[in-house]
Amino acid sequence: MCGIVGYIGHREAYPIVIKGLKRLEYRGYDSAGIMLFDKEGDLKISKTKGKVADLEEKSKEIISAATIGMGHTRWATHGVPNDVNSHPHLSNSGNLAIIHNGIIENYEPLKKELIKRGYTFTSDTDTEVLVNLIEDVKKKDNLKLGKAVQVALNQVVGAYAICVFDREKPDEIVVARLGSPLAIGVGKDEFFIASDASPFIEYTSNAIYLEDEEMAVVRLHKPLKIRKIKDDSLVDPYIQELKMNLEQIEKGGYEHFMLKEIYEQPNVIKDTYRGRLHANEGIIQMAGVEDNLEKFLNADRILIVACGTSWHAGLVAEYVFEEFTRIPVEVEYASEFRYRNPIISSKDVVVAISQSGETADTLAAIKLAKEKGAFVFGVCNVVGSSISRETHAGAYTHAGPEIGVASTKAFTTQITVLTMIALRLSKAKGTLSNSDYFRYLQELEIIPEKVQEALMTNEHAKEIAEKFKNSTNCLYLGRGYNFPVALEGALKLKEISYIHAEGYPAAEMKHGPIALIDEQMPVIVIAPKQGHYDKVVSNIQEIKSRSGKIIAIVTKGDTQVKELSDHIIEIPETSDALSPLITTIPLQLLSYHIAVLRGCNVDQPRNLAKSVTVE
Ligand code: M6R
Repeated sequence: MCGIVGYIGHREAYPIVIKGLKRLEYRGYDSAGIMLFDKEGDLKISKTKGKVADLEEKSKEIISAATIGMGHTRWATHGVPNDVNSHPHLSNSGNLAIIHNGIIENYEPLKKELIKRGYTFTSDTDTEVLVNLIEDVKKKDNLKLGKAVQVALNQVVGAYAICVFDREKPDEIVVARLGSPLAIGVGKDEFFIASDASPFIEYTSNAIYLEDEEMAVVRLHKPLKIRKIKDDSLVDPYIQELKMNLEQIEKGGYEHFMLKEIYEQPNVIKDTYRGRLHANEGIIQMAGVEDNLEKFLNADRILIVACGTSWHAGLVAEYVFEEFTRIPVEVEYASEFRYRNPIISSKDVVVAISQSGETADTLAAIKLAKEKGAFVFGVCNVVGSSISRETHAGAYTHAGPEIGVASTKAFTTQITVLTMIALRLSKAKGTLSNSDYFRYLQELEIIPEKVQEALMTNEHAKEIAEKFKNSTNCLYLGRGYNFPVALEGALKLKEISYIHAEGYPAAEMKHGPIALIDEQMPVIVIAPKQGHYDKVVSNIQEIKSRSGKIIAIVTKGDTQVKELSDHIIEIPETSDALSPLITTIPLQLLSYHIAVLRGCNVDQPRNLAKSVTVE
């Protein structure tokens, strides 16, 4: 969490840093700050609680033609969001400035030691401790900034991506990373530093992604040298050519990124299977799977680890994998898995799912699984992300940048990738009949058209949203493949509208939650024709007899559920196993409209951040 941007070169730094912060605001947005160093040797800092727009307002008086600058958008960990705790932080001498994404876990003992040595602190942050530690080390041994950063980081426990600037050496910025992402954009006589490449995409398509435990002194007119923080060894910089374009990271006429991303789903699902799915030939080809086919086929079980929406995609995959391949599957919250001494062996295949590829808990779960000898396969969206590098093999979802904090297209593309993997394995194992296998391939190929059709429910979803926008609670019910969709629907609603919502397997109602039903309680039931339709109809009857308000997601032409429901949203028919790709669409739209009607900040909901790089 937190977004960091730095610039050193020949252009004015202010607009680059501010625009960059706006693009990184999805990472954290409770406070923001900027530092500029101008040719007269003035170091100016402006910081504020609130969004980058508030910072822009506040920093008018510091704008200069400075060509060196750093900025930060924060998701608070240590210290409440306020002006003082915002970054950049200065060292006691006022010479060093730092921006930091991550957590310094041992900041308390370090702080005590520094206080004993005469240092004082104005903020409650771990970051202010780090910048003073660097200053202390630098002064004590009369070190250059790069060396001082290295020595200090070797005393630190935790996670970081940092930029450090020294007013006594104003032609360089020292950067380092451990556990939090950091990219360096390499231009002509200029460098850009950022948490991801979006802040510099219009200036250069050459990027270096620092690996964990690496640091660099980014110096003007000098080749970039990357070193290992621990042993000082030099690393060859690998310059990657970026494929991202500006259009992909802008709103393209939509009011919110979330809506844009919901509407992108037909296209991005196609991008996900393009070149991999050849329905007429009965072929599914994914390099990461082909190269490791034996590992999957010989697996005693598949263990899926993920968080949040990605975990829900994992739950859908559990149903799909077991049905198609007959390989036992378990799905775990990465945050629980990592701390419970799980039983894993080299006969397990661990599948880690993550949109950002940076989620700290998922990353830790992967490391643990690897230590225990498992083969780990990643399903990530962000190319070159930490998880994609940490796993043995993987498949990208190709959904393009997802900026809205609420995950939408990541979910459907993750399900698409996982379904393709399951189909490929079923072919190798012969666990699906030939006709079923071909049928699924063909259905998957036309899913984008059905998603497009499901998007036509937008206006109707908005009308329903108008009726339920003031609800305080909401229940989501589904069965089988659509039970995880119920969980995902509830998560979408709570995270962006702040309405309390729960997802349940419909049949579990009678074991407790049915007590909640009264005429105030909207119940969203996912009831497509395929699957456990009759059972779900009985569950709907149970709700109706207790006066609950029923909003049902049904297959086009349905009459039975329509009669029982207060509102229905009709979606096109597909097979049970692929239905989550369709049923989820109206639920995304419903949450979106409810949140908009309640005046919530849909793309940046309170207390959240897009990529959760702290545990
Ligand atoms: O980047 P990841 O997929 O690893 O993120 C996992 C969760 O933090 C994420 O899905 C979160 O739950 C979303 N905000 C849900 O919309």
